[in-house]
Amino acid sequence: MLVSSIADHMQCPRTRPAQLPNPDFQPQYPSFSIRFPENISQLVMAVIGAQHKSASDAADGASRATLTIFLTSRASTTPPSFFEWTSVTDNKGFYNIAALAYWPSKTAYESWAEESGFKAWWQALDPDSPNGWFLEAFFPTTDRFETLFNTDTAREGSAHMGQCMSEAVKEHGYWGSMRDRISLSQTDGLEGVKAVPDEYRSPPQDVTPTGRVIIPGRKNLAVIRSGQDWLDTTLEERSLYLDTMHPVLTKGMEFLRDHGEEVGCYSCRFMEVVDLKTAKPEGIDRTFGLAYFDELASLEKWCKEHPTHLAIFKGFFQYAKKLGNNVTLRVFHEVMVLQPEQQYFDILNAELYSVLVSVAARGL
Ligand code: HEM
Repeated sequence: MLVSSIADHMQCPRTRPAQLPNPDFQPQYPSFSIRFPENISQLVMAVIGAQHKSASDAADGASRATLTIFLTSRASTTPPSFFEWTSVTDNKGFYNIAALAYWPSKTAYESWAEESGFKAWWQALDPDSPNGWFLEAFFPTTDRFETLFNTDTAREGSAHMGQCMSEAVKEHGYWGSMRDRISLSQTDGLEGVKAVPDEYRSPPQDVTPTGRVIIPGRKNLAVIRSGQDWLDTTLEERSLYLDTMHPVLTKGMEFLRDHGEEVGCYSCRFMEVVDLKTAKPEGIDRTFGLAYFDELASLEKWCKEHPTHLAIFKGFFQYAKKLGNNVTLRVFHEVMVLQPEQQYFDILNAELYSVLVSVAARGL
């Protein structure tokens, strides 16, 4: 029996129609959503990192070591529920290393920032430091957050704060199901502010004399973290993934990164999880696309219409067919639609910072 992706306590009479094609719709394969304890009403996902001119500039591990001190500080009673290291080289060749960290409430995040000394350190950072620093923190209330996993055993990101994984959900397998999984969409259209192309790549306008840029949030910014994990695949599936899916996915991510303004995407980073304990000698086995769209409708449109995601999407079904549906590749995503005050972008040494473009550099 399929269940709703929206937890019972978050369901309410709809004032806006669901996208579900018909009430008897049956997805062709199972997928699952995280169930959070009822006392979690707001989560935090933060991307805290350093930008270096090249990977060799970061080879001494100093920026990562510095952030690790705060993330693992025993002085904090509310350390992250989970964090891991991720990296990406952007289209200007800059190397970015970042912790992706989660907390079960904004209060917990703020206490951690105080008690660990992170906040004081961050505020005193020297703008002339040899590398850039960035803090991108998101504070979605759970009614603005949805997840979808193709397996009920994955432990990714916000799953570390979940109570359990749901039974197989009914809201998937059709375009628009992402929206149907967001509880607030029952009563709200989640419209954002359509950005004009100029806004995407213009340099931030509000650089302070200290070189720090704080970018204001935008109404209903849509953030997606869409991940792929082929760590436990067989050799056969691994080759199939790397030969057929990964190249198409890379193309899609490069399109969003380099031409995102054509489809309402401010920023896209195709990131690798840097996990020395679990990486196989052949290389990295987990990646995710982290992308920011001007509104949910733009993200929906890209998935449904753009050749890059359509190629990924169709490729996935051929892939599953070849494996007789014995897919062990794990895919998942976390999507949030954020109010302006649920976003915090603080960037230091901004002239180096080419990845996050000017989200709302021109205001709302
Ligand atoms: C939906 C495949 C990467 C964005 C889907 C669905 C599949 C799929 C099968 C339908 C899921 C369902 O409802 O049951 C894949 C595969 C990927 C991949 C195999 C990588 C190997 C990405 C990336 C992004 C993305 C990197 C964005 C950064 C989305 C979104 C939806 C979706 C937003 C939901 C669309 C909606 O419900 O309206 N994808 N995808 N996908 N995908 Fe992807």
